[in-house]
Amino acid sequence: MKRTRLCDLLGIEHPIIQGGMVWIANAELAAAVSNAGGLGLISPNAGMSPNDDQVENLKEQIEIAKSLTSKPFGVNLPILNNPHIEELVTAVINAKIKVAVTAAGNPALYTSRFKEAGIKVLHLVAAVRHAQSAERRGVDAVIAEGYEAGGHNGLDELTTFTLIPQVVDAVTIPVVAAGGIADARGVVAALALGADGVQMGTRFVATRECAAHQNFKEAILKASDTDTAITGRKLGPTRILKNEVASKILEMEAAGASAEDLLAFIGSSRSRTGQFEGDMVNGEAYCGSIAGMIKEIRSVGDIIRSIADDYGAVLDNLK
Ligand SMILES: Cc1cc2nc3c(=O)[nH]c(=O)nc-3n(C[C@H](O)[C@H](O)[C@H](O)COP(=O)(O)O)c2cc1C
Repeated sequence: MKRTRLCDLLGIEHPIIQGGMVWIANAELAAAVSNAGGLGLISPNAGMSPNDDQVENLKEQIEIAKSLTSKPFGVNLPILNNPHIEELVTAVINAKIKVAVTAAGNPALYTSRFKEAGIKVLHLVAAVRHAQSAERRGVDAVIAEGYEAGGHNGLDELTTFTLIPQVVDAVTIPVVAAGGIADARGVVAALALGADGVQMGTRFVATRECAAHQNFKEAILKASDTDTAITGRKLGPTRILKNEVASKILEMEAAGASAEDLLAFIGSSRSRTGQFEGDMVNGEAYCGSIAGMIKEIRSVGDIIRSIADDYGAVLDNLK
C-alpha cells in the first residue's frame, strides 16, 4: 500500500485509521489496529456503563492499550456537550498519547494544548469551510467524513465522493477520507481523490476484537445496501441500522416532533443499548451504508492485511 504523508505524520505503516466509536472502540480494538500497522483510536466511553466515570474509564483503556501495543495509538474526543472534556484532554496529555482526534466541536479549543504537549491533532470535518477553519487553528490533518458514514454526520449531508476532492483542493494539510470505505477498492478510490489515508468505522465493528455486541456484529453481516437510514436531523443527522427505533424516530420527525421530544425519546444511552448490549429492537445501532458489503466477522489483522494485499491488484485493474 502507498506510504503517504499521513504515515510519516502518525508513525504508522498503512494509511488506515480506525475511527472512534463511542461505546465500543476499546483498547483491544485500537491496539489490534495499531499492531496491524494502522492507527487505532480509543473512545473514552468504550466498555463502560452509562453512570461510570468517563475519565477513569479512558485512563484504564489507555493503560490496557499500552500493555497490548508498543505502536502509536490515539484517542477520539467528541468536544460538544461533553461536561468532562477538560479532564479528558488533561488525561490524554498526561498519558503522553501520540494522537488526539477531535470531533463535533471547535478545534480552536484544544489544538494548541495538545500540540504544545507534542501530540498530533486530527479534526473531523464534513464541509470545506470546517476543514479550512481547522487548518487555520493549526491541526495536523483533517478527517473529512461523508454522510455514508455510521453515526453522527455533518449537517450538509455531503457524500464522501464529493467532499474529499473539494477538501483536498482547499487545504494543504493531509486529508483522511471517511465514510463508505471497507476494502482496498475504497482505499484506492480515496487516494485517487487526493486523500492521504482513510478512516473506517463500520468495517471494524464486525471484527473479533471490537467490543460491539455479537447481535450488532451479526446485524451488520445481514444488512443490505439499503438497510441504514439517517435519523434525528433536528438533533444532528445520525446514520443507523433500520429497526423499530429508527422507524419510530423517522415517524416522530415526519409528525414534526421537536428536538426536545426527539432527545427525550432517544436519550443518551440508546446507542449503548444497541451497540454494546445488543438490543437490536430498542437500541440505536450506528452503522454506515457500506454494511451491505460486509459479510464476515474477521480479525483486524486479517482485514488490514487483505487491504494491503489487494491494493496492488486494484491499481493494476486501472491500467
Ligand atoms: C458504531 C459507531 C460509533 C461511532 N461513534 C463515533 C464517535 O464516538 N466519535 C466519532 O468521532 N465518530 C464516531 N463514529 C464514526 C467513525 O469514527 C467513522 O468516522 C465512520 O464510521 C466512518 O464511516 P464508515 O462507518 O462508513 O466506515 C462512529 C461510527 C460507528 C459505526
